[in-house]
Amino acid sequence: MILIIDFGSQYTKLIARKIRQLGVYSLIVTPESAPREIKLHEPEALIFSGGPASVYAKGAPTIAQSVVDCGLPILGICYGLQLICRMSGGLVERSSHREFGKALLRHNGRSPLFRGLDREETVWMSHGDKVTALPAGFRAVAGTANCENAAVVHDRKKIFGLQFHPEVVHTPCGATVLSNFIKTNKITLDWKLKDFIREKQALIKAQVGSGKVLLALSGGVDSATLALFLHQIIPGQIIPVMVNTGLLRDEDHLMPDIFRKEYGLSVKFVDASKVFLSRLSGVTDPEQKRKIIGHTFIEVFEKEALRHKGVKFLAQGTLYPDVIESAGGNKLAAKIKSHHNVGGLPERLPFSLIEPFRELFKDEVRVIARKIGLLPELVGRHPFPGPGLAVRIIGEITEERLAILRKADAIFIEELKTRKLYNKVWQSFCVLLPVQSVGVMGDERTYESLLALRSVGSVDGMTAEWSRLPLEFLAHVSSRIINEVRGVNRVVYDISSKPPSTIEWE
Ligand code: XMP
Repeated sequence: MILIIDFGSQYTKLIARKIRQLGVYSLIVTPESAPREIKLHEPEALIFSGGPASVYAKGAPTIAQSVVDCGLPILGICYGLQLICRMSGGLVERSSHREFGKALLRHNGRSPLFRGLDREETVWMSHGDKVTALPAGFRAVAGTANCENAAVVHDRKKIFGLQFHPEVVHTPCGATVLSNFIKTNKITLDWKLKDFIREKQALIKAQVGSGKVLLALSGGVDSATLALFLHQIIPGQIIPVMVNTGLLRDEDHLMPDIFRKEYGLSVKFVDASKVFLSRLSGVTDPEQKRKIIGHTFIEVFEKEALRHKGVKFLAQGTLYPDVIESAGGNKLAAKIKSHHNVGGLPERLPFSLIEPFRELFKDEVRVIARKIGLLPELVGRHPFPGPGLAVRIIGEITEERLAILRKADAIFIEELKTRKLYNKVWQSFCVLLPVQSVGVMGDERTYESLLALRSVGSVDGMTAEWSRLPLEFLAHVSSRIINEVRGVNRVVYDISSKPPSTIEWE
């Protein structure tokens, strides 16, 4: 296994995911806990992640010298590379050119990390500092026009460093570089999803016995997969509950029906829309919206949970990224937005938690979902954020604006499905803006809302490219929305990628 030490990069989770995809179990830990975690897990290698700080800044995260000197193979990425170099006597300085985006990497053909690659490869850079003088024992094996130490190795120790990010999709050769790190250092391939499922099934059966399990269903793929997973292991013992926040799309309301018809599971649909909408009334700040929704959700679910006497367990579709965040593992990272999902329920409920997907990433859950026979339309559903339509209505949330957005969104999604484009993109939706513009319908002047269409391609939601949907398709969707949705007289298409934008607008 490989321990990943997180210095606060937005991409640390991607490193863990990529390493697992290559068949090696990986865990993310903080720099402070690294010495203890190394003793506990006895990893075969370490990876130092990137991070937003400058290694020479006051208070910048660092690590015990004993970790750098522990003798295990180490791969430093971006900040990780700079930290290793600085701690070993090299020099890291502000670069005269900040390098952000794609760059052409040229390697000297002598490093095992670049085995099987062309001499020139496109890589993705995101740094303002660079290593300007290498410490003794290190040499550069690849560079770019802006950065001569873009990849370095130590002559005798198994220490490797990359200034670029091999974990993001914009570095097409990244998986090969990571795989070469694994092969060169002979790290055991010990991660198989099939074994994992079998182990979890046995564990849950033993843990639950004949007890009852309460389950929070959100409509998303994680909790839907969990419901079916548990239903197959302990049939008749789960009580699925879905909270109507008033911020769901029309299609989300169909979930209880689908579960009843397809799997014979009856879902309790708790309508709390009034509470949510009244607390959100007049609120326009995105973070405040997210906080109100998060707290209200917990409150409503808690009340509902306590109604079911005799229930001993609470099952949640918590994924690994939620676990890392709640453990404070990335307190070094800049806060972009407060994500909320059912993974955030309080542990003080009088139940034992069942979270079989705690160690998994979303794409791994989708593999399980397919294996256990979840309906393909549920497996392939685009992600939908916990705060729902609230973060897709910019400005104030009202019943009227929710109705406009629901209608427009349903048209966009229906057209994507009809044109067989839905499964080709990661996520598509509409955003209602607090902007009105002048239009003309028939002979009448209109002064109505602006609506944005958003569609992105992504592998994991961490980075995303706006989808190049056919122009005549966009024209058709725009015309349908303007004709059929009262209150919208102008439609625009969002052509921003992540980063620097995010997928959701709030
Ligand atoms: P952003 O907008 O941060 O979104 O680029 C990345 C992915 O996460 C989804 N998202 C959320 N999911 N709770 C969730 O469960 C949230 O609060 C939340 N906010 C964003 C978003 O839809 C995209 O797929």
